[in-house]
Amino acid sequence: MPNLINFTKLTREQKMMVFDWRNDERVAKFMRSKNIALNEHLKFIDSLKSASDKLYFLVEENGEFIGVIDFININDNECEFGLYANPNLKNQGSKLMRIIIDYAFYELKVSRLNSCAYNFNEKAIALYEKFGFEIYDKDEQMSHLRLERANLEVKTI
Ligand SMILES: CC(C)(COP(=O)(O)OP(=O)(O)OC[C@H]1O[C@@H](n2cnc3c(N)ncnc32)[C@H](O)[C@@H]1OP(=O)(O)O)[C@@H](O)C(=O)NCCC(=O)NCCS
Repeated sequence: MPNLINFTKLTREQKMMVFDWRNDERVAKFMRSKNIALNEHLKFIDSLKSASDKLYFLVEENGEFIGVIDFININDNECEFGLYANPNLKNQGSKLMRIIIDYAFYELKVSRLNSCAYNFNEKAIALYEKFGFEIYDKDEQMSHLRLERANLEVKTI
């Protein structure tokens, strides 16, 4: 069973580990903001204590920290997710996606889950599509994807 550690409960050591992952070239090149300073990172984590529309989790499974998942712009109907795997591990994407989908539809109980990715991020887009996400908009830089709960339920029956 995966363990979701809310960013507001991270130890100092875990905050530093996530900081290293987030600034790792293999992760940062797919993110809008790159090279985050440590004070910004710590301030951001602190700010989550009073944020009601965002949730960030460090994911632990079988004693291993496998990645980070987040939910932003959360409202009663929908939210947006993000993820990055521990850059030192391979093939964690599907596990993280299952956790994201379960959390969004069964804990947050939203009816639609959104995400976006740079068009060049083929790995992420292929992963989202594997889980039933559809591209509903695409501009020069980004693809916007979504998964409806209704479609998910049809698929799992
Ligand atoms: C997106 C992410 C979670 C996907 O994880 P994953 O599907 O388990 O894939 P991995 O990164 O472990 O890659 C495993 C291998 O799959 C292969 N692969 C799988 N699908 C692929 C595809 N559609 N196109 C190209 N390569 C693919 C690659 O060869 C890769 O090996 P390599 O990196 O040594 O070339 C992970 O790559 C990640 O954290 N990326 C950085 C952050 C990110 O992009 N987040 C999404 C932002 S919107």
